[in-house]
Amino acid sequence: MTETAQLRVGLIGVGGVCGAVHYPGLSRIPGVEVAALCDPNTDLLATRSQAWGVPDTTADVDEFLRHGLDAVVIATPNNLHRGLIERVLGAGCHVLCEKPLGMDLAETIAIYQTAVSSGRRHMTAFTYRFVPGMSYLKHLVHSGALGTIRHARVQRLQDWGEHAIGWRQYRAQAGLGELGDMGIHRIDYAEDLMGPMRSVCSSMKQLVPRDRTKEGQSCPPQDVEDWVAWIAEFDSGATCVFEMGKLSKGRSSHGDHDLTELNGTDASAIYHLHTPHELLFARRGEPYKVKPVPEEFLARQGSPRDPAEGDPVRTFRYDQAWEFVSAIREERECQPSFYHGMRAQAVAEAVVTADRERRWVDIAEVP
Ligand SMILES: NC(=O)c1ccc[n+]([C@@H]2O[C@H](COP(=O)([O-])OP(=O)(O)OC[C@H]3O[C@@H](n4cnc5c(N)ncnc54)[C@H](O)[C@@H]3O)[C@@H](O)[C@H]2O)c1
Repeated sequence: MTETAQLRVGLIGVGGVCGAVHYPGLSRIPGVEVAALCDPNTDLLATRSQAWGVPDTTADVDEFLRHGLDAVVIATPNNLHRGLIERVLGAGCHVLCEKPLGMDLAETIAIYQTAVSSGRRHMTAFTYRFVPGMSYLKHLVHSGALGTIRHARVQRLQDWGEHAIGWRQYRAQAGLGELGDMGIHRIDYAEDLMGPMRSVCSSMKQLVPRDRTKEGQSCPPQDVEDWVAWIAEFDSGATCVFEMGKLSKGRSSHGDHDLTELNGTDASAIYHLHTPHELLFARRGEPYKVKPVPEEFLARQGSPRDPAEGDPVRTFRYDQAWEFVSAIREERECQPSFYHGMRAQAVAEAVVTADRERRWVDIAEVP
């Protein structure tokens, strides 16, 4: 396949993340045609069809897969990922699937093995790897600018309000609460920065029932966690403290908090999602100073995205589609692939077990 090969891509699940991330990312790439949409919500389907100029829409997955697609993006509630992945791979398409990849580790291992034996490209949507500040932080860590990482902290604090939050609050559809929603991304990028985690201890809390919608109608209460914290020991000897919560007053919409701080033997660095074009960096004996992200890290190599265009806290996400399309065209593994989705799920499962059994738990081996 050539670097400009024409690709027909279909989207399954055209809700929030598809509108904010997948469609805008794919539609910017020369040679990519968003060729078909699939969703059971026919009103939403009609709105998307008109806004995106994609006439081929259906609620039926089999019909969708008859549109001669090369690749498919799956962005549905989590319990549907596995069945859809199997059908998409079975139809011979490459697949980019949202996180968490599966409902639990056993399911995620099965998904990974199906993808590997299909010979198709597979990618997990760990979007935060594409923040320019995160790409630069990875470069600094791997080039030794911080020395050896001794300890670190990863925090994601938001306020979603105390009302119901849809399918995300039900174990049967989401698998996990805050750990699967915000935590799984941070497991992935913490391992991308610092290598594999070895062992965790944790605490998880469901803080409110969420048995009323925003409009005040009653609904079944949630059965997943709103808050999770864990300490992880890495194979490297580093230790990291993680905390994520959806009920952190003062952290609503633009006040939300997303920080990673690494403390090495030679220097420390802070990444903050909301200032994606700079880090804070401190050498031994010096206070933190702003370190602008160099030009070459502001967008992925070759990406059609202009890093000066739009809100940089949103637009970096479009580079995820560029990575998926580039990996297909260059016939190489996606980064991150389903392997990383499986690996993150192994850590998440250890976090759950550690909380339930109130002890340190080693991360399970994955194939
Ligand atoms: N990577 C990220 O940063 C990020 C951000 C948000 C959400 N997500 C993930 O994306 C996925 C979707 O989340 P969302 O916030 O867009 O949810 P959403 O509820 O806004 O959208 C989900 C869509 O899936 C559709 N759907 C339901 N059943 C379907 C089926 N059988 N076939 C096809 N479509 C179906 C729904 O009608 C809806 O339009 C989840 O896995 C979530 O964890 C990832």
